[in-house]
Order: sequence, then structure tokens, then C-alpha cells
Amino acid sequence: MRSLNFLAAACAVLLLFFVAVQSDEDISLPKEVKSCRKSSNDYSSCLRLAIQESWPVFMKGIPELDLPTLDPYFISQEESTYENGAIKGKIVVKNARNYGLSKAQFLAVRPQLQNDYFRLEVDVEIPKVFIEGDYKAEGSLETFQMGGKGYFNISLEGVITTWNIEGPIVNDRWQVEHFTVLPEVNKMHVYFTDLFNGNENLNRAAMSFVNEYWSVLYHGMLPYVSKAWDEELTKLVNRMFSKISFSKTFP
Ligand SMILES: *[C@@H]1O[C@H](CO)[C@@H](O)[C@H](O)[C@H]1NC(C)=O
Repeated sequence: MRSLNFLAAACAVLLLFFVAVQSDEDISLPKEVKSCRKSSNDYSSCLRLAIQESWPVFMKGIPELDLPTLDPYFISQEESTYENGAIKGKIVVKNARNYGLSKAQFLAVRPQLQNDYFRLEVDVEIPKVFIEGDYKAEGSLETFQMGGKGYFNISLEGVITTWNIEGPIVNDRWQVEHFTVLPEVNKMHVYFTDLFNGNENLNRAAMSFVNEYWSVLYHGMLPYVSKAWDEELTKLVNRMFSKISFSKTFP
């Protein structure tokens, strides 16, 4: 009988929880996340500090807000295409793990609210990033075809960027339309296997080419990659912001 009572109580608690999650009520950010008043005269620096201090809370992920673990951040699949004159390419990245976001330093935050449209610029520096995963690539240079699939990893150092997050406020929800980043990178080292279907020599040659000219290649790819990031990041933050009140988060 006692165990039955216990079971009933447990069911009730579960049901309550379920109802709370299902209802349209706002879910709050964890209480560790402090908020800043728009009216205060140090609003920007307050926001910067609030983001910096609560960053570890976000890194672990917040399941109630559909926010996944961010360090490492897992991407199951991402596709980008590239076309520039004679060079054409398509890369599919699978099971990518991104490490390093938890060490982010927030340098400055610039909020701007105008006619129910909110824009947040955040200057971020990440000392080290390590990305690894599987890839599949195909490309051509004039009539020369190449392609392959295998493992890759990329080590980055001194990553500095501005997050540009913007969108309208509708029904007290921030509907983010864009989350753009164009990271500048101080150092990059790329490793990949099997870009030429098992031809080791060609793969080694391509790898040393990439590591010598990474900066040119990176800047050439950035507009394309940035578009893919925008879509991914916009979806990511909207999963969270669609559940929380804008006026309570940014009072
Ligand atoms: C990248 O992968 C290669 C090959 O597995 C490995 O030798 C190298 O140590 C990796 N890079 C890092 C920074 O772990």
C-alpha cells in the first residue's frame, strides 16, 4: 500500500512537471543568470559581465530550454557549397565535435532596441578551438576533379569575432532572424585523411598546401561557411528564446 502511495505521488509529480512544461507559460533562465536593466546607465557593461559570469551555465546546456551542451558542441551534419570562378566544391561534415567555447572571453556587448527590433553585438575572443569529425568532399578546379571522405581535425588559436544577433520582438518573444559571425583567426592547423580516395601522396601535398595557404582559403570560404553558421546558430538560439519572455530576460 505504501509503495502504491509512493507511486501515485510520483505520478502526480511527473504529471505536474509535464503540465508545466507543456503549458504556454514562460520558462525562466536559470537563476544563476543575472539580468540587467535597460534603464541603468551601465547597461552594456552589466550585460557583458552577466554573460561572462553565467557562461558556464550555458556551456553545460539547459535541457528545459532545448539548449544542448555547447562545449563540446556536437553537429551531426552540416553541408556547405563553394563556388569561386574555376573552383567548385561541396563539403559535408558529419559528427563534428567543437571544443573550446567554454573559454570564451567577452570583451564588449552593444545592445540596441528600436521599434521592437532588438540587435545585440557581442565581441568575443576564444583562445583555442579544436574541431574534429568526419567529412565528405567533392570539388573541381577547371577540369581537375577531386574528392574523398575521411577524418579531419582543425586546431585554431586566437579566434576573435563579433556576434551579431538580431530580430523583432513579437508577443514578448525575441524572434532571432540572423546570428552572423565572421571570425578572425590567428593560427590554424588542419589535418585530414583520404581527400584523394586513398592516395597518400596527394593527400599529404594537399594538406601542406592547405596549411601554408589556410588564411587565403579560409577567407575565401568564410562567406559560405558564415551562411551555414547563421542558419545553425539562428535555429539554436531561437529554440531557447522562443520559450523565454523578452521583457523578463532584458528588463
Ligand atoms: C589531429 O589528428 C591527427 C591524426 O589522427 C593527430 O595526429 C593529431 O594529434 C590531431 N590533432 C590534435 C590537436 O589532436
